[in-house]
Amino acid sequence: MILSNLPLPVNLDTVADNLGDALFIVNRDKEVAWLNKRAGELFYTSDESAQGTVITELTGIKKLDSLLNDVFEQEAKLKCSYEEGSVKVKRQDQRYFFKISINPIFHEEELWGGLIQFTDVTRFHEMEKIKTDFVSIVSHEFRTPLTTIIVGVEMLKEGMLGDLTPRGKEVLEAIGADCERLSRLIDNLMELSRIESGTIYVEAEPADVTDLIQEAVRPLKFQAEKQGIELITDIAPNLPSVAADFNKAVWVLANLVGNAMRYTDPEGTITVRVRQRGKRLFFSVEDTGCGIPKENQEKIFRKYVQVSGPGRKGTGGVGLGLAIAKDIVMAHGGEIWVDSVIGKGTTFTFTFPVYYGDESVKLPDAEEE
Ligand SMILES: Nc1ncnc2c1ncn2[C@@H]1O[C@H](COP(=O)(O)OP(=O)(O)OP(=O)(O)O)[C@@H](O)[C@H]1O
Ligand SMILES: [Mg+2]
Repeated sequence: MILSNLPLPVNLDTVADNLGDALFIVNRDKEVAWLNKRAGELFYTSDESAQGTVITELTGIKKLDSLLNDVFEQEAKLKCSYEEGSVKVKRQDQRYFFKISINPIFHEEELWGGLIQFTDVTRFHEMEKIKTDFVSIVSHEFRTPLTTIIVGVEMLKEGMLGDLTPRGKEVLEAIGADCERLSRLIDNLMELSRIESGTIYVEAEPADVTDLIQEAVRPLKFQAEKQGIELITDIAPNLPSVAADFNKAVWVLANLVGNAMRYTDPEGTITVRVRQRGKRLFFSVEDTGCGIPKENQEKIFRKYVQVSGPGRKGTGGVGLGLAIAKDIVMAHGGEIWVDSVIGKGTTFTFTFPVYYGDESVKLPDAEEE
């Protein structure tokens, strides 16, 4: 918008050149039509040599192709910007992290192209790394004394250190339960910091589906019985092995079943199902619990998000389980999603690829170098 009665001594190109963000304008064929100074500096290019070059070639960021496709395909619905995590760009041994946002550009009601904006979030990434390392160290340091406490509580409970009064037993039970919660929290935090620091590699090996399910469900069977919940496994016959990191896959399943148990009342049912469709196996955990409101169904996969509402008991967790589960599933090249109806129940489904041979998958971290 030009405010004509106020003189603007500089043209808009100059304004754009003074921005800290790198900007590109591309047409529908993803060819660069314009760029600002920062974009030129960052990708070692000048206006003349950039003109008409396809953006992915110019920047070396292949991911831009699919991001632009997303924006262009959704043109009708999407008048707002599209934002995608960060990408890593390596320049002269310096690592920069950028957040990319893309806005479609319309000309005479027609989609003409897009404005791509790179915002430098390197500093933010460094802070995240410090935080991650801190969490990792602290949770690790917590583990040792906690183990001592848990062992002590067990010994007291079993009467190895003398008789207890009934009240003493009650108090010990409560301490034991809290220790378990703390221990689960520490496990989650450690798993999360490992994922965030990018140090985990997923070793995809052939894993037997029945073994996976047994390993995940067995420790929870007793708890389910105690809660009066029926825990059913329904595995299609003759399934091939999945390409998965066994322990991590078990972790995901156990977490989903654990969640289902927390949000399902007695008399309820939890069904763990596995089916094959093409080259993928679909694992689902279905419960007859309280359900998740539509507006929260996407959010719950983010860190520290928990749903509150009537009929929801305090859960003891912190909202990390699903965020970690999503990271693990995606690291295997799979997907995870939820279907849920309030008052009826919830089904979480995730996919793993069928095992076809030697393959190991690295955690994707949107990295482009
Ligand atoms: N089966 C389910 N039924 C209803 N709500 C669920 C179900 N699974 C998850 N949720 C909701 O999603 C939120 C996030 O789940 P998530 O597993 O990430 O965290 P949490 O279970 O609360 O804590 P943590 O897993 O860290 O111990 C839960 O707090 C709960 O509100
Ligand atoms: Mg959980």
